[in-house]
Amino acid sequence: MADINPMTLSLSTRAIHGRKLYPFKGPVSLPIYQTSNFRFESSDDAVKYASGDPSVYVYSRYHNPTIRDVEEKLALMEGAEEAALFASGMAAISTAVFATASSGDEIISTPALYGGTYRFFRDELPKSGITVKYVDSENLAAIESLVSPKTKIVYFETPTNPTLDIVDMKAIVEHTRKGEKKAGHKLLLIIDNTFATIVNQDPLAAGVDAIVESATKYLCGHSDIVAGVVLGNKEYLGRVKTVAKYHGGCADPFAAYLLFRSLKTFELRVRKQNENALALAKALERHPSVARVIYPGLPSHPAHVIAAKQMTGFGGMVTIEVRNKRTAAPLDAAVAVCDHLRVVVNAMSLGGVETLVSIPVYSSHVHMNGDELRRHGVTNGMIRISVGVEGVEDLIGDFAQALEYA
Ligand SMILES: Cc1ncc(COP(=O)(O)O)c(C=O)c1O
Repeated sequence: MADINPMTLSLSTRAIHGRKLYPFKGPVSLPIYQTSNFRFESSDDAVKYASGDPSVYVYSRYHNPTIRDVEEKLALMEGAEEAALFASGMAAISTAVFATASSGDEIISTPALYGGTYRFFRDELPKSGITVKYVDSENLAAIESLVSPKTKIVYFETPTNPTLDIVDMKAIVEHTRKGEKKAGHKLLLIIDNTFATIVNQDPLAAGVDAIVESATKYLCGHSDIVAGVVLGNKEYLGRVKTVAKYHGGCADPFAAYLLFRSLKTFELRVRKQNENALALAKALERHPSVARVIYPGLPSHPAHVIAAKQMTGFGGMVTIEVRNKRTAAPLDAAVAVCDHLRVVVNAMSLGGVETLVSIPVYSSHVHMNGDELRRHGVTNGMIRISVGVEGVEDLIGDFAQALEYA
């Protein structure tokens, strides 16, 4: 019987079985190596480890079999040569940057980013001598004029948080590659694929070099761990793993186990979230207390055509702008709606099986000034909804009653 190439299997099959196909023999679920260090059979093992033998485990900040299994599964799922698991999405993002950029280097990014990433770029990177320049996602050709010999990374998110703007992946790949001529070297194009996930878009197949993702969100999907991942080719991930050793943002074996377990239902969950989000977005578009619904799957979204080209589903995130009727101002209306939801949970974060709401000016974008909020398109009346897998009629009903308080 010929062996199966796991890459020929569907996403769900890869997410459930990983590389553990016939004739693999062993536990059906993943053992948790809850240990900081590993016994050597003899000191020869130390020598083997020092010479780079991957079969010798030493210390869990460097590597751990439970974490390794999750990394292999994620690489297989996302079509990457290698993956590195981290203690958080931010540990993944910062390590991904420091693996390529150092003092004197420049990054080009689209401005609509997760608030934590934006503040890392704005407040932390300058302390290491790294500068970030911003390019409007509607004018990606400007990448070529912004590139200099100091540019090392082009960074973007799509859909963006919380405004769900779409960055044209084909165009950003094209302009980054053209920019390489001016830079005189290869530019590392990184996407944060947390919102869409591999279920809805395939950045590596589109020509993006590396993916960072908060595994806290859809990959885990149960709001019970914090983790992150970097995916890309072997050469880059080798550098990521070296920097990770010294920055120390290693994943925890128990969190890795929970992630491994959750990945088995990942595709099912995300497809249901896509479906629920589209139905909820359509219902909210008809509600008189909703001034605007932003969802890439709606024809009213300004970049719906691009989204339809590069995404196979439109994700589980919906953002609305509330029209204040009873309250004095849009922010009061957003607060009143969030405070009257009974099924939907008023909590930060996203991607879990339970539907959550958050007000960006009070959560992800709380440390931004008025100008920055305008540039990011974030308004006071916005509510960001992370749609879960509940019965969609319950969600529609809950929003309908809570919006009466807007
Ligand atoms: C798009 C995006 N990227 C990265 C992060 C950071 O991930 P973590 O909270 O796991 O560090 C978040 C967190 O909300 C996010 O929404």
